[in-house]
Amino acid sequence: MEPAVEQLGSLPRSCVDNPSNPWNSDDVMPDAPAPVLLTGATGFVGRHVAVALQAAGFEVRAASRDPQASRRHSPELDWVRCDLTEPAQVRQALEGTRAAIYLYHGLGSGPAYDRREASCASTFRQMAEAAGVERIAYLGGIRPHGPASRHLSSRLETGRILRDGRIPTVELRAAMVIGHSSQSFALVRDIAFRLPMVALPPWLDRRSCPVSITDVAAALALALRVPLEHSAWFELPGPDCLSHRELVDRLCSAVGARLLEPRLPLTPRLASTLLAAISRVRGAVTRELVEGLMHDLLPEGPSFWSLFGTPTLRSVPEAIADALADELSPVSPSVESRRRIWATTRSWLGALEAGHGF
Ligand SMILES: NC(=O)c1ccc[n+]([C@@H]2O[C@H](COP(=O)([O-])OP(=O)(O)OC[C@H]3O[C@@H](n4cnc5c(N)ncnc54)[C@H](OP(=O)(O)O)[C@@H]3O)[C@@H](O)[C@H]2O)c1
Repeated sequence: MEPAVEQLGSLPRSCVDNPSNPWNSDDVMPDAPAPVLLTGATGFVGRHVAVALQAAGFEVRAASRDPQASRRHSPELDWVRCDLTEPAQVRQALEGTRAAIYLYHGLGSGPAYDRREASCASTFRQMAEAAGVERIAYLGGIRPHGPASRHLSSRLETGRILRDGRIPTVELRAAMVIGHSSQSFALVRDIAFRLPMVALPPWLDRRSCPVSITDVAAALALALRVPLEHSAWFELPGPDCLSHRELVDRLCSAVGARLLEPRLPLTPRLASTLLAAISRVRGAVTRELVEGLMHDLLPEGPSFWSLFGTPTLRSVPEAIADALADELSPVSPSVESRRRIWATTRSWLGALEAGHGF
């Protein structure tokens, strides 16, 4: 297998931005010389990425709008106040950091959330450049095979804004991330477990490659460690591509339930009203997520995984089992999930450093 670093030296042109970017590819991120700012650290993805960053040898500075409450919940992390809509707080939070993970989204924060997302990304980029940050990693959404919903357009626009700056930025594009407390996974989980008879609209035949939170967390931490001369985007698919209907079916199988399935011509609006009534996910968020399911969400661009060979990723049944087991844990991520993320990150990092691929 080709050494990972050599593969990285020849990134597909389609995903590389800013050819004039001055990043020096010899300057691979060393072990924790300065903290990494983790935005969205209180959220689903951020809580898991904190573990992966530590496993990858980084000191974590975790950002929260309410650092006192966050410290009570996760005293092991160093918390800093950072509301991304407040430029002064962003500047202070970034001071002295060498890299940053960008995980903010504004879903559910009001009607103009897409404008807010764009403005936060711009501010963050400017402040990060001023602070001398050398790498940003961002988890965004996949480009659909059809017109993008407002939510997905805004995720792509956030990626574009961050990549357009002077800092080499890795944008990872994922469809649904499977894990306990993922809002998109919670929707599907609640369809499977809370509806006595599953009325699935035909558009749930659309396909995607959902990915486990274990692999996403490790990928984001490694995105700070790969040598990179220019900003780039990559797909982050899971190993199994399937329809949303099949995903519901897999969830039912995981708990021994049967899927009774009349096909109803539910419009996205009707479906989101129904789902908002039965799901824990907030109505405004449900609507945006459902609209994002109208088209296939299949990877078409370069895969982040291919930079390293063919790592073993968690299958959909494994990821579902992890998520359901985590529901019973008093802490999130559960001890078992932390162990899994730690082991995955260490093993992939070891392969990267040895230059052997996975
Ligand atoms: N979950 C998925 O299936 C999935 C799939 C693909 C991509 N992604 C991407 O992954 C990223 C994280 O998603 P997630 O699922 O972890 O979302 P989440 O659980 O809703 O977390 C969102 C985070 O954003 C923070 N936040 C909200 N408003 C903020 C503000 N004004 N200033 C600073 N922080 C703010 C929240 O902090 P508070 O605690 O203060 O509210 C929270 O930590 C997003 O970019 C999303 O598009 C997720």
